[in-house]
Amino acid sequence: MKTRITGTGSYLPEKIISNEELAQWVDTSDEWISTRTGIKKRRIAAGETAGEMAARAAKRALENSGTSSEQIQMIIVATCSKEQCFPSLACQVQKAIGAVSAAAFDLSAACSGFLYALNTAHAYIRAGIYEKILIVGTEVLSDLVDWTDRSTCVLFGDGAGAVVAEASEEGMDGFVQYADGSKGEVLTCKGRSRKKFFQDGEEDGKPEDSYISMNGQEVFKFAVKKVPECIEQVLEQTGYEKEKIRWYFLHQANSRIIRSVAKRLEEPEEKFPMNLMEYGNTSAASIPILLDEMNRKGELVRGDKVILSGFGAGLTWAAALLTW
Ligand code: COA
Repeated sequence: MKTRITGTGSYLPEKIISNEELAQWVDTSDEWISTRTGIKKRRIAAGETAGEMAARAAKRALENSGTSSEQIQMIIVATCSKEQCFPSLACQVQKAIGAVSAAAFDLSAACSGFLYALNTAHAYIRAGIYEKILIVGTEVLSDLVDWTDRSTCVLFGDGAGAVVAEASEEGMDGFVQYADGSKGEVLTCKGRSRKKFFQDGEEDGKPEDSYISMNGQEVFKFAVKKVPECIEQVLEQTGYEKEKIRWYFLHQANSRIIRSVAKRLEEPEEKFPMNLMEYGNTSAASIPILLDEMNRKGELVRGDKVILSGFGAGLTWAAALLTW
């Protein structure tokens, strides 16, 4: 049994911050951000939580697939920016949409989170355990960004995307996924404040390392090497020629990374849709948001072969080849 995506949904917060606006707060420019990353704007959650955005994207995906919330047997939410330790965002989504029969858990694989979640869902479906699974990627990265650090704050945005994955004769043809914890230090966010009352002399407030910290060049080098490699592997695993692939949906971090992957694969850039200009890097949400946009534009036709690939903190990376 294979795993087919039968519906997509997304939710983007209304508040838009352009590069020009950012340039009023930190020493940067639209020219620098656009040429280095392709990003022009990003959405910022203003009062919306990662759980609320996830639930909105999930409802749209259910509607799009014609699946009722009661039919969903499992909810996986990929995120690295949830506001609370527990209950999980997946349980919050379950409550919000009324998916009373679903098991629910969150998954943490940063910008590879959606791919890891899709592959996990596929494993359950292939094993015959479940038939209908809801997968959501949701992020409020604006909470994790140091808005005075120009090297990171220009890159990220908020949003949520969701898909309904169902057991079917056609669908997921193959996947690979990897992690290299030994390189974890190149992209970190320690997150919560620590037990400060044990540490004499430390000042109150959010410690510096609770924000996203990144060695941009190392992340760039990692992505342009590992993404084409894992795409080649999934092609080899499934036996499909590159010519058969209609679309490559890559994690939307940087247009230069995506163009470099296209070049290394010797594939035309037109096969690599992008929306990072509008939303920046939305981590685990970027691929399902892009899938939803392309699906609703009618650019995804049943039978199309598509490759998805995510990469990010961990370091983690993954690819999947699907029949739409
Ligand atoms: N505006 C203006 N100047 C900036 C800037 C900004 N927003 N951010 C950094 N700079 C400056 C640096 O301070 C540096 O100045 P210096 O030469 O005077 O020291 C200069 O620009 C070059 O910095 P550098 O970090 O070498 O730039 P880069 O060409 O590597 O581009 C990234 C930086 C972040 C755009 C690039 O490395 C990248 O995209 N990496 C991948 C990041 C990513 O996608 N992460 C998420 C993965 S999931």
